[in-house]
Amino acid sequence: TQSTFTTVASYRQWRQAARDARKTVGYVATMGALHDGHLSLVRRSLRENDLTVLSIFVNPAQFAPHEDLKTYPKTLENDLKLLSAQSFQDRTVSAVFAPTVKEMYPSGITQDPAAQKGTFVEVKGFSYEMEGKSRPTFFRGVSTVVTKLFNVIEPTQTYFGQKDIQQALLLRRMCRDLLLSHPVPENLHIVPTRRDNTDGLALSSRNTYLSAEARLVAPKLYEALQAGEAAWNEGLTKAQSVAKAVKVIQDTAGVRLDYIEMNDPETFEALEDESRARGDAVILSGAAWVNTTRLIDNIILGNA
Ligand code: PAJ
Repeated sequence: TQSTFTTVASYRQWRQAARDARKTVGYVATMGALHDGHLSLVRRSLRENDLTVLSIFVNPAQFAPHEDLKTYPKTLENDLKLLSAQSFQDRTVSAVFAPTVKEMYPSGITQDPAAQKGTFVEVKGFSYEMEGKSRPTFFRGVSTVVTKLFNVIEPTQTYFGQKDIQQALLLRRMCRDLLLSHPVPENLHIVPTRRDNTDGLALSSRNTYLSAEARLVAPKLYEALQAGEAAWNEGLTKAQSVAKAVKVIQDTAGVRLDYIEMNDPETFEALEDESRARGDAVILSGAAWVNTTRLIDNIILGNA
């Protein structure tokens, strides 16, 4: 049986009972509008833990004022139905935590940083590379809400998608920096990206924004990254490989490039143009606009 909790206090009662029963708790954090990418994290958690918890919370702090907070899809009823269909042996999702904004932000939250009062968590430096260059306040919002969520959920293990590779690696670093015990950094697991079976588009809640025409060109981002990967594997330099990827986007009407880059998975810094760090893992990632929808994707090169 799957219980839904909307308050921190009610969830904590459930968590205490789980602790008393010495059960491990696996945790998947989401903003809802669930798809098979989210569900793959849930299935992994069901396999590896006695109990599995999922949270659904559209976090205002990670949306910039011009972004899609107001239109972000909300499909709670369907989400709960999808979740109840997931199982591993006799295990199903035990609890869903779906709090209000007030519950998560006791000091309030505003889209105007100058007016904001209260407590935030910031992973300095790493938050301003890669995605952070395009979305400078995004990771502060993510780090803050995930710290709160970890404090409430107290997961033994937790699962994040490779789809948002910088988010996952940054949160693992945050667990280490904040000396968290629930979870310890080693128990923050990264799960491979789930894609559309036919054209490879990474599943995303934001894909629901795409018109039929936009959906047709959306897979070009992944195709571009694959072109970059092929070039890299042939022995071309970073600059040459990235150029191959960029060209795929530039040759496609209806897709506008934000960036494609190769970055070090430890520092998130861009590789040198001439670099050929063959063997070492490298993140090849990109973002592109299809109309007003911003898509992201990545491939790990080398020894992941
Ligand atoms: P959301 O976009 O809902 O994603 C929730 C989790 O699902 C993240 O770990 C994300 O990487 C993973 N995910 C999304 N699409 C995926 C795919 N195609 N394959 C595999 N995993 C996928 O990421 C967030 O929410 C928020 O930033 C959050 C961490 C919940 C904090 O608000």
